[in-house]
Amino acid sequence: MKQRLGMLLAAAALTTSFAVHAQQSAKKAPPAAKAAAPANKSEVSKEFEKFREVLEEDNPAELYEAKGEDIWKNKKGPNGTSMAQCDLGLGAGVVKGAYVHMPRYFADVGQVMDAERRVVHCMIKYLGYSEADIRKQPFSNVNKTPDHVSVITYVAAQSRNMKIAAPQKHPKEIEAYNIGKEIFAYRAGPYDFSCASCHGEDGKRIRTQDLPNLRKPDEAIRAYQGWPGYRMTGGFMLTQQWRMNDCFRQQRFPEPSYLSDSITALLAYMTVTANGQTYKGPGIKR
Ligand code: HEC
Repeated sequence: MKQRLGMLLAAAALTTSFAVHAQQSAKKAPPAAKAAAPANKSEVSKEFEKFREVLEEDNPAELYEAKGEDIWKNKKGPNGTSMAQCDLGLGAGVVKGAYVHMPRYFADVGQVMDAERRVVHCMIKYLGYSEADIRKQPFSNVNKTPDHVSVITYVAAQSRNMKIAAPQKHPKEIEAYNIGKEIFAYRAGPYDFSCASCHGEDGKRIRTQDLPNLRKPDEAIRAYQGWPGYRMTGGFMLTQQWRMNDCFRQQRFPEPSYLSDSITALLAYMTVTANGQTYKGPGIKR
């Protein structure tokens, strides 16, 4: 563990410089995104991958997983209700395997929901969390990891090593996929970017960051794998919804409001594209 800690610190130092690059590249992203299209992973990316593999043996995400489990199992709402009544799609209270079967249609709300949205829905409904408070700080920062992020991490961990199988049976599930596909290709904004501008071809890169081609099943998995992810540069957990919002920012679009239909649709599109592959559980992201 001591040795690991050393690695962790070394990695943190390394990723701090990544962060600086990332910020710079975020500012200068548009020209870079068009320019670089090398075939191989960058050297820095390869180094980062090595660190990540070592760190995942003692994944700090487990701390949040434990906190989320405690909330799921023990917390009671003002009316004595609990998460045991929450149906994530496989029956009330069933957590095992639920994560890899979302986004899916939920008849009680007449909507397709992704995992994050469903968990938050249940926390509001059964535990009495306030939607306004959650919207005030939907994502973690250095000061605070909101409870719902821990619960999402717990729920995700309960699908570790299971096959991704987002359903496409209900018409609304099919509709969500199609809308997501459209949003992915939709170009607009000051640089006329779509998601596909950065993630629609092989081998694109911004500075040290390799950009997955999310239209291909074997790379679409990256929209799923490692999320929720422990972000080494900040030391907190971030969710898929955070990733989506941050990419809207990269795209110079207005950020969607938290838990919006368009994000569920994008996640449906990318998850269905990744169907059949194995989810390894919450991970580590730079
Ligand atoms: C200007 C370029 C750009 C645009 C446009 C863009 N992204 Fe990204 N995207 C990035 C960068 C940079 C990363 C971070 C890659 C890394 O961390 O290695 C990223 C990461 C991601 C990831 C996570 C990949 C992983 O390995 O975890 C997903 C999923 C994603 N983007 C989806 C989208 C979607 C959906 C859109 C459209 C709403 C979009 N992106 C638009 C640049 C972009």
